[in-house]
Amino acid sequence: MNKQNISIHGEWSSRLAFILAATGSAVGLGNIWKFPYMTGEYGGGAFVIVYLVCVALMGLPVMMAEVMLGKRGRRSPVNSMRILAQEGGYSQWWRVLGWTGVIAGFLILSYYSVIAGWALAYVPKVAMGTFTAINSMPQNEVAGFVGSIFNELVSNPIQLLAWHTIFMSVTMIMVAGGVQGGLERAVRFMMPALFIVLLVLVGYAMSTPEFMMGVYFMFDVDFKSFLYPNCTEASCELSGEGMLAAMGQAFFSLSLGMGAIMVYGAYLPKHASIASTTSVVVIADTSVAILAGLIIFPIVFSNGLAPGQGPGLVFNTLPIAFGQMPYGSFFGTLFFVLLVLAAWSSSISLIEPAVAWLVETGKFTRISASIWSGIAVWLVGLLTLFSFNIWSHVKPLFMFSAFEDKTFFDLIDYMTANVMLPLGGLFIAIFVAWFMKTQIVTEELDSSPEHGGFLIWRFLLRYVTPLGVGLVFLNAIGVFS
Ligand code: PHE
Repeated sequence: MNKQNISIHGEWSSRLAFILAATGSAVGLGNIWKFPYMTGEYGGGAFVIVYLVCVALMGLPVMMAEVMLGKRGRRSPVNSMRILAQEGGYSQWWRVLGWTGVIAGFLILSYYSVIAGWALAYVPKVAMGTFTAINSMPQNEVAGFVGSIFNELVSNPIQLLAWHTIFMSVTMIMVAGGVQGGLERAVRFMMPALFIVLLVLVGYAMSTPEFMMGVYFMFDVDFKSFLYPNCTEASCELSGEGMLAAMGQAFFSLSLGMGAIMVYGAYLPKHASIASTTSVVVIADTSVAILAGLIIFPIVFSNGLAPGQGPGLVFNTLPIAFGQMPYGSFFGTLFFVLLVLAAWSSSISLIEPAVAWLVETGKFTRISASIWSGIAVWLVGLLTLFSFNIWSHVKPLFMFSAFEDKTFFDLIDYMTANVMLPLGGLFIAIFVAWFMKTQIVTEELDSSPEHGGFLIWRFLLRYVTPLGVGLVFLNAIGVFS
């Protein structure tokens, strides 16, 4: 193997190590915090179905494409795209794809850290048994009590600042230490543990009076109200927002479209198979999201809560379970610890494209690159942090009707998940399926050009992904209404 083909940042020790790291990136707040509240906001089943279809038809193929690009390029996404464009004699503009990925990762991490801070804050709250108090309350006061604890937290910028700072500092210490060592070990124990705790919680959810209602909410598909959410007697207007959100969630949850998975692919040993590894990651990620929904919605309906209440949903529902179930404080503490660990293993991959690129410029060591990018992300995170309290009334794009009620947090989330990630995925699909030479692609995939699986994969990337992303975008800007 010539020197150019080994990543300067190191390599995974095995295929399993890559699976663990990629699963660590994919499974995070997106599955447990974001998926349930988005499903709640967009009315349930139809959102879930569109999300699942996007995962299968676009997510899986794009993930394979990203891993393949990384494996071939062996560098940060910015430089991998540069090298690959050079190799094929294509425009240097493809490098922009690496750049937008770095920016998207930055922006996502900025709010991700604030939300992970909430989860961090809940560790001591649950451990100290705060929520067991609900056992001596009348049922109709439970939700209010749990909600007041959440509101107290998010309306206190000083507390949030402390947790955000702790979360970011630890993230950057882990990133500075390099991608392999600790991460591999942590994820190996964390994923199975998280799965078990989720199963225990599903058991609790099954014991709640409205378990089946939660299940129906998630799987009963009603496209009419999904596509026409604001119907009045007089008029019904087609809205593409739900579709866009479901597609964005698919990319977000799988960590696609911004180079996180690409940069992990760059550390993949040359001979590792891509198709089977990515399938494992996609299945693990999707199962965690579905489990989270199956836990949260029964609690929502059993306690008369609103499924569409937004980002606080998980924090307003799960503590009820931890207050009521046997060994609730134990499972609750374990749950939030695992959630924070899952958020850390995702955060590392959000900033790794930037750090790897800074190191490749030759002007930074891994440590100084981590410090500087960490400080920058922390600062941008303040926009989100204040969106929930002192700046909750600030709507920067109030002059555009589509964004008039969006806070800084809403806008950053919307721009990244709904716009940047799907666009990134789209261009990755186009580059791999329309530009790169079949011979190079099949070589990296260890496949023959006539293999059925390869042909299906390329068909999905060539036609389905561009058409899917394109139509959802056009629908969202109202072309079909
Ligand atoms: N997939 C992560 C989650 O679901 C978030 C993420 C998005 C991580 C994009 C990396 C890149 O929590």
